[in-house]
Amino acid sequence: MSFTRRQVLAGLAGLGVAGLGAGGVRYWLGRPENVATHDYELIAAPLDLELVPGHVTSAWGYGGQAPGLELRCRQGERLRVRFINKLDVQSTIHWHGIRLPLEMDGVPYVSQAPVLPGEFFDYDFICHDAGSFWYHPHTASAEQLGRGLVGPLIVEEREPTGFRHERTLSLKTWHIDEQGAFTDFLVPRQAAREGTRGRLTTINGEPNPTLELPEGQVVRLRLINVDNTITYRLNLPGGEARIYALDGNPVQPRPLGKEYWLGPGMRIDLALKVPSAGEELSLRNGPLRLATLKGVASSEVAGDWPPLLPANPIAEPDLARAETLRFNFEWAAMLSGNVERGGSYKYWQINGQAWDINDKTCAERPIATLKKDGHYIFVLRNMAQYQHPIHLHGMTFKVLSSDRRKIIPYFTDTYLLGKNETARIAFVADNPGVWMFHCHVIDHMETGLMAAIEVV
Ligand code: C2O
Ligand code: CU
Ligand code: CU
Repeated sequence: MSFTRRQVLAGLAGLGVAGLGAGGVRYWLGRPENVATHDYELIAAPLDLELVPGHVTSAWGYGGQAPGLELRCRQGERLRVRFINKLDVQSTIHWHGIRLPLEMDGVPYVSQAPVLPGEFFDYDFICHDAGSFWYHPHTASAEQLGRGLVGPLIVEEREPTGFRHERTLSLKTWHIDEQGAFTDFLVPRQAAREGTRGRLTTINGEPNPTLELPEGQVVRLRLINVDNTITYRLNLPGGEARIYALDGNPVQPRPLGKEYWLGPGMRIDLALKVPSAGEELSLRNGPLRLATLKGVASSEVAGDWPPLLPANPIAEPDLARAETLRFNFEWAAMLSGNVERGGSYKYWQINGQAWDINDKTCAERPIATLKKDGHYIFVLRNMAQYQHPIHLHGMTFKVLSSDRRKIIPYFTDTYLLGKNETARIAFVADNPGVWMFHCHVIDHMETGLMAAIEVV
């Protein structure tokens, strides 16, 4: 298997980590002034945060922020990001939900060599689909995502959509104690269950923020679950909100309803009719408040509900000629295995195979080989008592049906497979490569629930 060589950071003098001190912002943003638009230099580096008042959390950030700098691009255009690794561990960037060539997918030893400390890697791809996406490493994920290496990637529609206001809300629950110190990102006995939960819930790195929104306007809220393990049960009591997109892909607008379960890796774009100035709504996870949405005075004329967002150019699977493949997600009998000898914990498996995150050759043994441009139905069966947000790299699939809930078919890259649920998804295998297929509960992925799907 061949992959792109990393590049050594030479001749990039002056890019030392300066922290957030004087001149920090310009340094961190690193958006070169005289290069075409949508070019970024994205630096990953240690970053001290004050998540708990009066205490320091030694986080890791992208572009001087955790969650990281919001990257933006227009649909159909190229996005070029020079990723500069100023951490003292190796890393990569994966572009979650973006349909791109394998060499840009950020999976170590499959797409590229890991980017070593002091090195950089140039990511360069076209954003074919508009929507709310995100980025994160695909190396030592429990710790790297846990420390804050997660960030939004917004691909704007080609034409104006009718939304004049929008906000991005990245949801993350930090694994820190009362003094702001990190606690274990992956506790084995939790990995064998629902995953290791953090303690401090934040939106854009802030616990319980108040978002001021212009009264009477319809604001697009892009909610991104960048958390390692938590499924947020989103609700907005008394709010007038409609769902416009799920996981980056437009849906026929419909009311948010009582609750929407946003699993790790998933996104939801809501349109919210902002209440009058001074009025507040509470965006919640189950009964817990995540943020206060507050109307503030605005001189703009009241907004109206924008039309359905334009569909992304995704090939429609032909179910009549599709081949059906079955995938069972189950508990692995072997518990700690050979951990003492350097093996990984394996609690989970797909069709009887557990992925070993310490074995660089796993991707050479794909769990399925698909024909390029073939049409496929995957039957996903969860044989466990815990839910799994199942994610596929490289291609977007259509959710067809479930034995547990009514599905209005829609395109996505991550499907939250509930306890004991069986669901059917379909797609056209139009992107050649070796694509990761895994649960986005990071603890599950790192303890076996990952496989490679090959398209040739
Ligand atoms: Cu966001 Cu391999 O995942
Ligand atoms: Cu992904
Ligand atoms: Cu899982």
